[in-house]
Amino acid sequence: DWTMAEFRATKIAEIRAQVGSGRVICGLSGGVDSAVAAVLIHEAIGDQLTCVFVDHGLLRAGEADQVVGLFRNHYNIPLVHVNAETLFLGGLAGVTDPEAKRKFIGKTFIDVFEDEARKIGGAEFLAQGTLYPDVIESVSFTGGPSVTIKSHHNVGGLPERMNMKLVEPLRELFKDEVRELGRELGLPDAFVGRHPFPGPGLAIRIPGEVSKERCDILRKADAIYLEEIRAAGLYDTIWQAFAVLLPVRSVGVMGDGRTYDSVLALRAVTSTDGMTAQAFQFPGDFLPRVATRIINEVKGINRVTYDYTSKPPGTIEWE
Ligand code: XMP
Repeated sequence: DWTMAEFRATKIAEIRAQVGSGRVICGLSGGVDSAVAAVLIHEAIGDQLTCVFVDHGLLRAGEADQVVGLFRNHYNIPLVHVNAETLFLGGLAGVTDPEAKRKFIGKTFIDVFEDEARKIGGAEFLAQGTLYPDVIESVSFTGGPSVTIKSHHNVGGLPERMNMKLVEPLRELFKDEVRELGRELGLPDAFVGRHPFPGPGLAIRIPGEVSKERCDILRKADAIYLEEIRAAGLYDTIWQAFAVLLPVRSVGVMGDGRTYDSVLALRAVTSTDGMTAQAFQFPGDFLPRVATRIINEVKGINRVTYDYTSKPPGTIEWE
């Protein structure tokens, strides 16, 4: 009979055996997986662990503060917080191809991480919150064994380059199991229950060129959408909900005037592991209400659409 308490104890023993008296650096992404991995590893080896949070400025409203607060104040886990927004946004200027965005973000993430690792005196081990679906999706997809659908920036690359050994205690787990482990480790429910968020962040929710201005517009719209989802009590039944700021402008009318602003797409899906997904059916007047609020409250958006695509043939993120 397999329980999370047993899994926790087994993994702690394994981590201690693997790491010995070595030092471990863990990259935090702001999401649940890396946070759970870090807390588990901290429980196993204490201050032999240092966390590095490379903040690329492509996070949702308030997300960076939540992570930093949780680690520093709640757990007292050593954490280096690097604000690299200017570097990331500067490099993304003029980049529109989805894979080029992903590759730039992945590479820059590694550069910044490597610098920070050097500053804190290096380490033999690198910890990552890689899950089972990350392992399979980065290798293959239903399209065939050699097709890369999207390059995930949280798997591969880094350890070889830095000559570090990997510590990946969540490699056998699915998302729901990671959440259960997080609760078992005492992480707050609201944190553990958070929707998945992609490593490249808002950059892949802004098709076309990414800018600080477009990130800010998207952050505002996304915050309203999620606030309404929470208020309607729907957050936990949805696997992932987010807004996508499209590189399309449409004509509208506001008061006496003509508007010519961006179109926003809303997405919400149900899923058990992110590998397949269905569009979520919102009840009643939920979507029209959210659309009205966003158009009234967010300057720069004058039209809102809803995305009904399943995965497959679509993917959850647009890029
Ligand atoms: P797709 O869009 O491929 O996404 O259907 C499947 C799940 O993975 C998340 N995702 C990522 N997660 N790094 C991550 O850690 C990434 O580069 C990345 N790209 C997509 C996505 O949000 C969804 O939950």
